[in-house]
Amino acid sequence: MKKRVLSGIKPTGNLTLGNYLGALKHFAKYQDEHEVFIFIADLHALTLPIEPEVLRKLTRDIVAFYLASNLDPSKTTIFLQSQVSEHSELNAILQNYLYMGELNRMTQFKDLSLKMKQSAIGLGLFAYPVLMASDILLYDAQIVPVGEDQKQHVELTRDLVDRFNKRYGNILVMPEPVISKVGARIMSLSNPLQKMSKSDPKGDVFLLDDLKVIEKKIMAAVTDSGSEIKYDVKNKPGISNLISIYASIENITTKDVEEKFKNSQYGEFKKAVAMCVINELGPFKKRYEEIINSSLIEETLAEGALKAKKIAKQTLSRVQKAVGLLHVE
Ligand code: TYM
Repeated sequence: MKKRVLSGIKPTGNLTLGNYLGALKHFAKYQDEHEVFIFIADLHALTLPIEPEVLRKLTRDIVAFYLASNLDPSKTTIFLQSQVSEHSELNAILQNYLYMGELNRMTQFKDLSLKMKQSAIGLGLFAYPVLMASDILLYDAQIVPVGEDQKQHVELTRDLVDRFNKRYGNILVMPEPVISKVGARIMSLSNPLQKMSKSDPKGDVFLLDDLKVIEKKIMAAVTDSGSEIKYDVKNKPGISNLISIYASIENITTKDVEEKFKNSQYGEFKKAVAMCVINELGPFKKRYEEIINSSLIEETLAEGALKAKKIAKQTLSRVQKAVGLLHVE
């Protein structure tokens, strides 16, 4: 049965191999059978300080990456969050149905705010999961493909749906986070105990890195003592991370990778991982280069906003009526 699928990426920094393997790579596979909405979470990007020209560049980059990952605008609605004002309007309603205690427990908020000066933490950063819930619920999304780190936010959205529907009836659609078996949490190559992230450039593979740089970074990845290619996150986090990267790109299991490289040394294995990343990202980056300076980006966004707005308006109106906002047509 046709389902609604929604996901997004926020333009806060250069996209990483983690974003690609945990999220981006999976989006296009839904578009032939389902109704897919993929957006750029640009309002979310404002929750941390960012220069306007950087935000504009990163936003266009993400659209180009979407198109380079074979998302087809005639099948998938690709749009900017800020162009569909219903996201903010639904946010204004839903913020009353999530509680401060719940938001306080969000790991991402805790991690980020720990690194910041207490007096400079914006309200938007704290309230972030409400906007994310609005993004999801506005499109009645049933499937939300995300990396591991976003699971908690989708689960909070589910709690919100429960709470809201108990009060008002069956108004909001229950979303399901879909997290891939491998590649949902790619770790930093220099510190495999830390997640690879856009805001922490050490040990990250950026999608815009030169292929030679990517190869160098992978060859220099921190590995563990011993010499066995074994998936054991606790005792061998470095090698396990490289196994995940390889398995995710080749669409095989971590067991398959162990088997394939059971007689190999670390150096040989790293070389194979580097080659497989380059073979995957090479053509992808080439498509990105062809798109990034074209008007296809603006055309896609203009068309996408219209399509997204049509659906968003209906949901917003349903929610407004449910909570008792007077509807004057
Ligand atoms: P963002 O922009 O931080 O990340 C985009 C996607 O990439 C995944 N990801 C990873 N996957 C594997 N390994 C990693 N190291 C890694 N780092 C990031 C993330 O899990 C995510 O799927 N809040 C979201 C954006 C958003 C959203 C939404 C997503 C806003 N509204 C509604 C889905 C539905 C975010 O900050 O993702």
